[in-house]
Amino acid sequence: MSDLKNELLTIRKVFQNEVLSIRTSTEADSLRVKFLGKKGELTAVLRAMGSLTAEERPVIGQLANDIRTEMEDTLAMRLSQVRAMEKAEQLATQTIDVTLPAQPVSMGARHPLYKAIDEICEVFLGLGYVIAEGPEVEYDLYNFEKLRLPKGHPARDTQDTFYITENILLRTQTSPVQVRVMEANKPPIKVVCPGKVYRSDALDSTHSPIFHQIEGLVVDKGVTMGDLVGSLQLFARKLFGENTKIRLRPHHFPFTEPSCEVDLTCWSCGGKGCRVCKGEGWIEVLGAGMVHPEVLAGCGIDPEIYSGFAFGIGVERTAMGRFGIDDIRNLYENDIRFLRQFK
Ligand code: PHE
Repeated sequence: MSDLKNELLTIRKVFQNEVLSIRTSTEADSLRVKFLGKKGELTAVLRAMGSLTAEERPVIGQLANDIRTEMEDTLAMRLSQVRAMEKAEQLATQTIDVTLPAQPVSMGARHPLYKAIDEICEVFLGLGYVIAEGPEVEYDLYNFEKLRLPKGHPARDTQDTFYITENILLRTQTSPVQVRVMEANKPPIKVVCPGKVYRSDALDSTHSPIFHQIEGLVVDKGVTMGDLVGSLQLFARKLFGENTKIRLRPHHFPFTEPSCEVDLTCWSCGGKGCRVCKGEGWIEVLGAGMVHPEVLAGCGIDPEIYSGFAFGIGVERTAMGRFGIDDIRNLYENDIRFLRQFK
């Protein structure tokens, strides 16, 4: 018994000496391991207690525990002193010269595509539209069927896309958001829906398999094609200047009737004809029309009472015209030298 007791008292003495010589928190850690760790000296003594008699065990056990607590307290106290010393030392040696010029912070720039999206949405927000969004992975039902493009409809071929299953695909247009909005809301409805769309087109200077559209939808009593023209005229002028004109050409979309494609006077030559507009003087920027009565009815809106118009703006086209970009691929390559120009 006295052997173990002596051993404990010796450990305590050695510890008390060593703890005073600690100068850093790392040294404090090593000391903790040396005495109190799993393979530490105190632990070794506690292991040896099995050899004691039933009377001795509680006595030595108590002593060992007291010593352990004492060591822990001492060590904690020393550690806080050491930390304070380290802090003081740091403050004394590591001075900061607040008069030194700061490291330059390099500011990013908004991507031209998103700049265009912001500018376009801004025009329509000013007209009282709200922004709506929908999923990019969409049901065939919303992307096609409810827009009067049943399976096998020839117009589907112009928007061939990436199918996930037979009934789920990457949306080819933002028009499915129209359906989602009309199903969930009663008129009056006034929304713009910006987002990515996907078509299995090869990448060249004017096409990309992923691109962006902004859909617009207005449904209310007495909405006419004249309202559509007025809204689009404003969009054209705000983005490309007061002298910009729009032109509507008859077209076909299954979900609008009548339908049109809308051209803007060329942003490069103003309408005289140049390389950018291929001598036309006009550039096609969007599709539009009056929402087909069957589409309204399919979304639970009575076409006898309500009418509406819709349009889909090509964002890349708009951004390229707005910022004078001649190759669509510049928009996706993330070349910092290109992007820096839009600060
Ligand atoms: N969704 C059509 C397209 O991608 C554009 C469009 C939108 C046409 C809304 C009419 C009304 O080509």
